[in-house]
Order: sequence, then structure tokens, then C-alpha cells
Amino acid sequence: MGNRNAYDHLFYPLSGEEEMASRKKRKTTTICFTNNKGGSGKSTTCANLGYELSVAGKKVLLVDGDMQLNLSLSFFDEDAVLALAESEKTLYEAIRGKKDLAEYVIETPHEGIDLVPSTTLMSQVDYDLFTMMQREFVLKKCLSGIKESGKYDYILIDAPPTLGIWVINILCASDYAILPMEASPWGFFGLANMFDFLNGLKDVTDAKIMGVLITKVDERKNYYKQARDILGNYKAIHVFESFIHVDSAIEWAQDASEPVAKYKKSTRSAVEFKKLAEEVIKHGSR
Ligand SMILES: Nc1ncnc2c1ncn2[C@@H]1O[C@H](COP(=O)(O)OP(=O)(O)OP(=O)(O)O)[C@@H](O)[C@H]1O
Ligand SMILES: [Mg+2]
Repeated sequence: MGNRNAYDHLFYPLSGEEEMASRKKRKTTTICFTNNKGGSGKSTTCANLGYELSVAGKKVLLVDGDMQLNLSLSFFDEDAVLALAESEKTLYEAIRGKKDLAEYVIETPHEGIDLVPSTTLMSQVDYDLFTMMQREFVLKKCLSGIKESGKYDYILIDAPPTLGIWVINILCASDYAILPMEASPWGFFGLANMFDFLNGLKDVTDAKIMGVLITKVDERKNYYKQARDILGNYKAIHVFESFIHVDSAIEWAQDASEPVAKYKKSTRSAVEFKKLAEEVIKHGSR
């Protein structure tokens, strides 16, 4: 190869390796969506933020870390998701075999977004991890090849509403966590629990909290206003400027297995997820 001149690539196609090297490597930021409180908007945020990041020209890999398969269902219909879950190309198989996740990536119908699908077998992943060496870092190792390849700008991981060794794996594999929460008394209780849990993990993970995202907002409720004020008093907690209103288009979009902006571009939550994507991109350029 050493005796090629500068114009040779016009006549000789590059080999796969050369092509990879000639492309600019992306710095990959890994963000997880976590909150032990169920139904707080983790999967909805992960899917729609992922879509908006891709619309902004970013390359995105989504990792469905939950046995409920909700992230996968955001992009594929039920039959397709169940077929994927029954295949051997699932996150569960990768974790159990400590495989490079690159082998488990599938394309979604949207340009710039790929997915590692889940399976209901993820319900037993805590049990499987328990006997593994370095059990907190299995997902981190499975993702290391993809991160080093520089193929993606963002890897977004949807966590289940639990606080076991699998969620610890997700946090250890992440640079940042976004905590979606509903402005409700039990939403606050869940958030306080999450902060305790995250504080207890400081020795094993460097993941930082990028911010708390308030979801399913109904501004007619006084509790929402009080919640924003309470959160505002905790200077150490960043609350995203963007928040997501309750919007029935989200459910219709999920029914159609589409991101809400694809389903109805002008709907309120679509505009809000776009703004959230801008905040996340800006955070990275700080
Ligand atoms: N902004 C919104 N407006 C209306 N409905 C919403 C909104 N965000 C989420 N939902 C609905 O709320 C429910 C819970 O959302 P989602 O599944 O994203 O939460 P989750 O935190 O991932 O839940 P789990 O803890 O079970 O994984 C879903 O049925 C979803 O359709
Ligand atoms: Mg979920």
C-alpha cells in the first residue's frame, strides 16, 4: 500500500479497513434512561430523543435493556418484535455469552438509528450475571468494540424499572444518565431513591447525571408548579429546560410503532423532544 499516490483511491477502491480508517471517527456518548419508578417515561424518552438526535444528523444506537420490549416496540410492530425476541440476536444472548454487541445490531426503518433488540428472557439477566466475573462491567465490555469503532455519536440505553445488578451494568456502561420523572409525590419518592442508589455506586461508575426530565406534564395541575419549584431549590440537580407535556399523540405513535414526530410532526411533544435533543447536543459541546 505504501507506494500508492494521492490519486490512487480514484482508481482502486479502498479496502474495508482503509475505508473505516479514512472516515472520521465519532466520539461516542453513552446515555442511559433510568428511574426505579415505573412508567416515568424512560422508554418514550429514549425512543423519541434517539429519533430527534438522528434527525439532527447524529448516528444513534438504541439498546433495549428491558424485558418489556418497549423500546423495540417503538420502532417495530408486535409481530416483528416477538420474532426478534425469539431469534438468537438479542441483548440477552450477547450478555450471557459476553459477546461484542456489534454482532447484535439491527437497522430500524429510520435512517441513522440502529437497535439492539431485547427479549423477555432479560427477566433473568440479574440471575445470569450473578455468577459472572466482574459482573458489574459485562455490558460495558460488550459495548467497548462499538464505542471504539466510532460508528455512533450516541448510544442510548433504556433501563428497566429495577435497581439490581443489570441496572448497575447499564450505569457502568454509560457516560451519563437521564432521569425521566413524573411530577407527583411518588415521582419524587422514586427520584430520591434513585439519587441514594446512584450515590452508592460512586466507586464503580463514573456515569454523571445529565439531568432530570419532567414528563407527562399537565400544567393545569398545581402540583407540577410546586414540583418545579422544589427541584429548582436543589442546585446540584440539573433539571432540563425542556419538559414533555402529556400528549395523546404519544400513545397513537406508539400504537403505530413510530416516533411521535414521524407520526405527527407538529404535535406538542414532538417539538419538545426536538428541543430536548438540542439541549443534549449542547451539553456535549460544553
Ligand atoms: N408525554 C406523554 N403523554 C402521554 N402519555 C405518555 C407520555 N409519556 C409516556 N406516556 C405513556 O406513559 C406510559 C409509560 O411511559 P414509558 O413506558 O415511556 O415509561 P417507562 O418509565 O419506560 O415505564 P417502565 O418503568 O415500565 O419501563 C406509556 O403507556 C406511555 O405511552
Ligand atoms: Mg420502559
